[in-house]
Amino acid sequence: MKIAIILGTRPEIIKMAPLIKIYQENRADFFLLHTGQHYSYQMDKVFFEQLKLPLPRYNIDVGSSSHAEQTGKMLIGIEKILLKEKPDVILVEGDTNSVLAGALAAVKLGIRVGHVESGLRSYDRTMPEELNRLLTDHLADYLFAPTPKAKDILLGEGIDEKKVFVTGNTIVDAVRQNLELAKSGKDVLSDLKLKPKQYFLVTLHRQENVDNAARFGSILLGLDMLAVRNKLPVVYPIHPRSRKMMDEFKLKPENLTLIEPADFLSFLQLESGARLILTDSGGVQEEACILGVPCVTLRDNTERPETLEVGANMLAGADAASILECVEVMLDKKDKWDNPFGDGKAAARIVKIITEAGNG
Ligand code: UD1
Ligand code: UDP
Repeated sequence: MKIAIILGTRPEIIKMAPLIKIYQENRADFFLLHTGQHYSYQMDKVFFEQLKLPLPRYNIDVGSSSHAEQTGKMLIGIEKILLKEKPDVILVEGDTNSVLAGALAAVKLGIRVGHVESGLRSYDRTMPEELNRLLTDHLADYLFAPTPKAKDILLGEGIDEKKVFVTGNTIVDAVRQNLELAKSGKDVLSDLKLKPKQYFLVTLHRQENVDNAARFGSILLGLDMLAVRNKLPVVYPIHPRSRKMMDEFKLKPENLTLIEPADFLSFLQLESGARLILTDSGGVQEEACILGVPCVTLRDNTERPETLEVGANMLAGADAASILECVEVMLDKKDKWDNPFGDGKAAARIVKIITEAGNG
């Protein structure tokens, strides 16, 4: 059986890495198809190098543009490669434009589609990610739900139960495989003059937050006030989209420590050393929960409700006062929580299911 793994952005590289490793170890017939949605060194290549992943056989270099143009270019490029390579199954992960394009190009050629991290819903259709995951789930032949809740969502949408598998999220695999390595590597905290549990870590890059001047400004005000009030550094490895919008809107948060996007091992160190994490990222909400670090989500909703239910996360939205209040509540939290995202063996389960389906 021939497998194509289609990916295009930072989180897909990280969350697909455990699967790629297994296919590599098994000497399976597989190849990587990179859409080129992310292309800056620190958003792309650094993860291939650090996680020791094979280079993609193809990179269609779509780069940045509007949603339709970017997705359209991906469809055209992916179709050509799938026609040439004729894989039996393609795998996509998550909810980016690369995911939707990969699934749509494949399904129209009669190629089976596996969707890793299936069944997540924010129920907010203004988010491009919600549209991508909803459509991809309804195109896919194998739906790998990270949690029983995600499975229930899929069944509730009328998807055939035979297609749905609860596997856990491969991010647990990725964290477990890399955490010790991260801690034994270069001392990122010292390099940034940070003391363990005496700083806040921020990531913020979602279109609905950073492309809106008022909303971005309000969140940055809250973060700035947090730094001043708590007299602790607030470290923000800034996504290129957010950097661009910050410049465009002339926003100048004076009390934040802005750094370049971090490599995965450095970022894991920053996350596990943080007193609390504030984020609008999907993956970072999960990682905070897995690492036992309290999280405040800078959004009005989340497609990761498990993090709220176990008490690891709170939704603050974009209001500065609300951000400060949520931080206070989460800082007071004494109880630990269980990780709801699985046992770190999600990738092995997914590979087994795909292999058995191919043989059956
Ligand atoms: C995309 C995903 C988002 C995911 C994020 C992960 C969609 C719709 N969005 O958002 O769900 O959370 O990736 O990080 O698929 N840029 C660079 N270098 C790069 C990539 C982007 O400078 O390597 C800049 C460009 O100015 C670009 C902007 O970032 O216009 C946005 O990039 P894009 O890929 O469109 O969306 P992301 O915000 O990265
Ligand atoms: N990440 C990283 N360096 C950073 C910020 C994030 O390596 O500076 C990793 C993080 O550990 C997580 C993933 O990127 O695994 C999350 O990606 P992102 O926030 O870009 O996308 P999302 O999860 O929101 O789709």
